Amino acid sequence: MPPPPRRPNYNPRKPGFQAPGKTPQGLGNAPQGQPQGEQGWDPVAAWYDKLVGESGSDYHRQVILPAALRMVDPRPGESIIDVCCGQGVLLKPLLDMGVAKVTGVDASPRLIAAAKARHGAERRVELITADACAPGGWADGSHDAATCVMAVHDVTDPVGLFSNMSRALKPGGRAVLVLMHPCFRIPRQSHWGWDADQKVQYRRLDAYGTPQDIAITTHPGKGSGEQTTFHHRPLAELITAMGLGGLAVTACEELYSHRRSQTGPFSKAEHRAAQEFPLFLALKARRLPRSA
Ligand SMILES: C[S@@+](CC[C@H](N)C(=O)[O-])C[C@H]1O[C@@H](n2cnc3c(N)ncnc32)[C@H](O)[C@@H]1O
Repeated sequence: MPPPPRRPNYNPRKPGFQAPGKTPQGLGNAPQGQPQGEQGWDPVAAWYDKLVGESGSDYHRQVILPAALRMVDPRPGESIIDVCCGQGVLLKPLLDMGVAKVTGVDASPRLIAAAKARHGAERRVELITADACAPGGWADGSHDAATCVMAVHDVTDPVGLFSNMSRALKPGGRAVLVLMHPCFRIPRQSHWGWDADQKVQYRRLDAYGTPQDIAITTHPGKGSGEQTTFHHRPLAELITAMGLGGLAVTACEELYSHRRSQTGPFSKAEHRAAQEFPLFLALKARRLPRSA
């Protein structure tokens, strides 16, 4: 069995912590193509393309894409790069807002093929298969804004990802991330619970502070055993990785579910919980000036 991919340690609570401002060894040295030591999303590309479809899952449509577009605030004539673009769910809304060019980058050749099938005929679109954590010609300082939607937890090397997003931007260019909220939505570690005495729906967290690689079975009912890996990282680690990669956070939104249950004995408590616990985190950042 190949050794697991080496992950830099940005957790101040663990021995060998990589302090902010110092470049971790091996950063950005991964080869182009699939993320190291993983098959990535290629085996589940057909399932994901069907799930997301033309305009996204309901979370995409109601919560994630509106937040990404609000934060990136695209202006007509701009060039925008969507890193880890998948099958290209963000491309059409960006095109509809009048941008001059949209570049999509993803490690999965099948998801890039799906994006090309949907958007390849549009002359303002360029689609590139590449590992976003490794150096690449696409990170060329030519873009006004860079986005990464629902994928920060899918990469093995977040500093590599953020470094390349930063390198892709013009000086002062803006970056927007939308991800599963690392404090409230950790697969297998966060759950809803019901306190019958207090009549309160609460959020239970069984673990948070330790980074974890969590296997996700993509379509359990089918029994195909296809999996992706979710890389949970505590918030401090995430924001420190952004700084190490050359992105300075300027704004944050915590995004709540639009879903509401049917009327019933628990619905009031469920509504309250849905309004109290954010499921997604959106961060806006600026490209920092390069250090020597
Ligand atoms: C949950 S999907 C999100 C895709 C898209 N942004 C969306 O919202 O539908 C995660 C994506 O990250 C991509 N990905 C994971 N690791 C990557 C890497 N190292 N480089 C480029 N893409 C990567 C996967 O191929 C997949 O398309």
